[in-house]
Amino acid sequence: MTKPDPAELPATLYGVRWEGGLEDGHLVLLDQTRLPKDLVYLQVRDIEILRKAICDLAVRGAPAIGIAGAYGIVIHLVPLAKTATGKTAESLEQAHAHAHERLVSSRPTAVNLRWALERMRDCFQRHSDHLTPLEMCARLLMEAKRIHREDLELCRRIAENGAALLPISGGIYTHCNTGALATGGVGTALGCLVEAHNRGKKIQVFSGETRPLLQGARLTALELQHAKVPVTLCCDSAAASLMARGKIQAVIVGADRICANGDTANKIGTYSVAVLAKFHGIPFYVAAPYSTFDLALADGSLIHIEERHADEVRRSQGVQLAPHDVPVANPAFDVTPAALITAIVTERGVIEHPTRERIATLMAGGASEPAV
Ligand code: MRU
Repeated sequence: MTKPDPAELPATLYGVRWEGGLEDGHLVLLDQTRLPKDLVYLQVRDIEILRKAICDLAVRGAPAIGIAGAYGIVIHLVPLAKTATGKTAESLEQAHAHAHERLVSSRPTAVNLRWALERMRDCFQRHSDHLTPLEMCARLLMEAKRIHREDLELCRRIAENGAALLPISGGIYTHCNTGALATGGVGTALGCLVEAHNRGKKIQVFSGETRPLLQGARLTALELQHAKVPVTLCCDSAAASLMARGKIQAVIVGADRICANGDTANKIGTYSVAVLAKFHGIPFYVAAPYSTFDLALADGSLIHIEERHADEVRRSQGVQLAPHDVPVANPAFDVTPAALITAIVTERGVIEHPTRERIATLMAGGASEPAV
């Protein structure tokens, strides 16, 4: 365990990594609950441990939990494949279904987790009658690595498209954490900020601390300092005043699920920032890859919003802040209506003033998954 001074963090930050080969390999997660104080890596070889890491937010951020879930299928099936008696991978079908179910139910709002697990299931179904159990695991590991590499490329393209959109100077407000820790690459909204800075734009990022779990304070502030992007941390409740005083020229956030009409679920508090931006005439941007779109959902009223434990609000970092038994509302996400979103930045391009038609056109006609 090390103390992560930003200057001493590894040059490339990552939240999820596969280490080793197929039979001796395992998943490595940077325990994000311990940041910024401690740099602790979890060595994960068991699906229930992975489920707990996802539920506890040791690994978090929509794309990152999708990638971790994909590797999770592999860590569950490899030990069974080594001793499987059946000739084909069909003998692993029940175990695969079990792993899929345990992982997909761990966090319900971010659609990337379901998307990645469905890709793994499609891969399994395509090959289960002609590959041996171990060959199937090798094929699944290849698919998980492809999902991981693909996300790196998606982030890169989103960062380019978003950086072009951001003002050449001024204050940019962001919420929660959407960086390397939350994805397989440089991040979504945070990637746009880093890219804008690297292109010479004179931006000053304001990071809302993101109560109750403080992803903005603990993770975004750390990542932006690490990338040498000027960042100022503020309480979530300071956003209105900062906007009223002319300190914010744009807002950019990530997403956990974007519906067919553009309604967007993201970390609780995003909706209030969007309302504030509208009131102050400030552009409000959402940055996300195609894997965050759920075109089967007509609008945001249909999104399942995860409700988390009351103690996350009553307590913070082990300190009691409220009566131990006071009732608490703790929705982990909220839905920003499409009408409040100036543009959605994707790897395929920018959807200005998103509508059902514009989203359908970009998602159907745009480039498909990047070749990786
Ligand atoms: O509960 P979390 O920390 O997983 O919530 C994360 C967010 O809301 C992010 O904004 C979103 O997943 C996009 S990450 C690129």
